Amino acid sequence: MPGLRPNYPLRTERLDLRPHRMDDLDDLYAFHSRPEVVRYTPWPVRDREQTRTALEAKLAQDALTEPGQWLVLAIELRETGTVIGEVLLKWAGEADRQGEIGYALHTDYQGKGYAFEAAREILRLGFEDLGLHRICAILDDRNGPSALLLERLGMRREGHLLECAFFKGEWANEYIYALREDEWRTTSA
Ligand SMILES: CC(C)(COP(=O)(O)OP(=O)(O)OC[C@H]1O[C@@H](n2cnc3c(N)ncnc32)[C@H](O)[C@@H]1OP(=O)(O)O)[C@@H](O)C(=O)NCCC(=O)NCCS
Repeated sequence: MPGLRPNYPLRTERLDLRPHRMDDLDDLYAFHSRPEVVRYTPWPVRDREQTRTALEAKLAQDALTEPGQWLVLAIELRETGTVIGEVLLKWAGEADRQGEIGYALHTDYQGKGYAFEAAREILRLGFEDLGLHRICAILDDRNGPSALLLERLGMRREGHLLECAFFKGEWANEYIYALREDEWRTTSA
């Protein structure tokens, strides 16, 4: 697999998915600073400087050239130009063509189908452009909205791992959801 350098923006009905830019800082800070957004993300509540440092790291995450890397894209609402969240794709394994997705949305923009629209485009990218065989998502089992999103995407709950992570000060259980390329072809037909 040669990797992936998408042509940006990736367009969906209402969204443009594109690499981050330094002038996204205000929009990013608006959701990276919210406890309810980061409750189940691997990152903590961030102040403006911490958001800036995180943003600097995202600037280069615009292509997948080696397994193990994450593609990290800004979710821009086309109508207003606001960055309302981010969506991620990990190229997890080359020989076995495995991937992983992640996402986070500003609270004000949840409940409108935007995360579904962005994540579906990222699944398409992973299966159809990168050539992945299976894409998974790993989440805290208390993250109900994330589990519902994955089920809406047609992903299957494959595993429930008990106290497999010490997360933000306590033991956490995780769900693993996944979709294979043959299932993607069926759901996207
Ligand atoms: C997980 C997360 C991205 C889910 O976002 P979401 O907005 O609930 O997900 P969806 O995009 O699928 O939106 C679903 C809702 O939009 C509605 N919807 C779907 N299409 C729509 C459309 N075209 N117009 C308006 N509403 C629509 C659905 O009816 C559903 O509403 P409901 O929640 O009232 O049932 C969000 O909760 C989040 O960012 N959480 C914090 C970060 C996080 O935990 N990330 C995951 C770590 S594993």
